[in-house]
Amino acid sequence: ADPSPLQDFCVADLDSSLYINGFPCKNPDNVSSQDFFANGFQQSPGEFNIFDVNVTRQDVQRFPGLNTLGLSMNRVVLKPGGLNAPHVHPRAAELALVMDGKLFVGFVTTGNVFYWKIVTSGELFVIPPGLVHFQLNIGHENARFFASFNSQNPGIQFAPLALFNSTPSIPDLVLSKAFQVNQSIIELIKSRFATVS
Ligand code: GLV
Ligand code: MN
Repeated sequence: ADPSPLQDFCVADLDSSLYINGFPCKNPDNVSSQDFFANGFQQSPGEFNIFDVNVTRQDVQRFPGLNTLGLSMNRVVLKPGGLNAPHVHPRAAELALVMDGKLFVGFVTTGNVFYWKIVTSGELFVIPPGLVHFQLNIGHENARFFASFNSQNPGIQFAPLALFNSTPSIPDLVLSKAFQVNQSIIELIKSRFATVS
C-alpha cells in the first residue's frame, strides 16, 4: 500500500541526511546490478526470540533496491511450539507461503471476528492490512514460511511487547483498566518481558 514510483527505480541511499517519506535515491550513475539482489535468506536463522521464532526481514533497510517499489519479504522460522506472537503490520497486507511444518494461523478483524486455519507445506495465507494476527507451530519439526508485503517497510508491532514492554512503560493503572485485572497481574506480565530488548 505504498505510493507508486515516479521512475524505474530509486535505490535507497540509506546514509543520506535528508529525511523524507521513504529514502532518497542513490545517484543512478552509482547503481549496479547488485543493488537489485539480496541474499538475506541464504543465511540460516540466527537467534530465536523469547517466543521461539526467528524473523529475517528483507525490507528496504536491508535491501535498498526495494525503495519506492512497495514490496518486501520476511522469512519466519518457528521451533516446535513457537509462536509468532499476535502482531500487526501498520503499512501492509501480508501474503505468505508455507514451506515446512504445520501452523495454526489466524487473524482478527476490526469487528473482532477470528478467522483461522491449520496450514502445511504448499499452502498460502493472506492477512489484511493492519489486522492482529499470529502463527503457532503445532507440529513436531521447525516450521518455515515466507511472507511478502505490499510495502517496502511494512513494520511489525507485537501486541504483547507494545503493551507490556514499551519504553517508557505504560502505567499499570492504564493496563489494569484495559485488561480488567489487578495491577499486580500487570506487573507480573511486565516482568516476563524484562529481559527483552
Ligand atoms: C509473519 O506474520 C510476519 O509478519 O513475518
Ligand atoms: Mn505478520
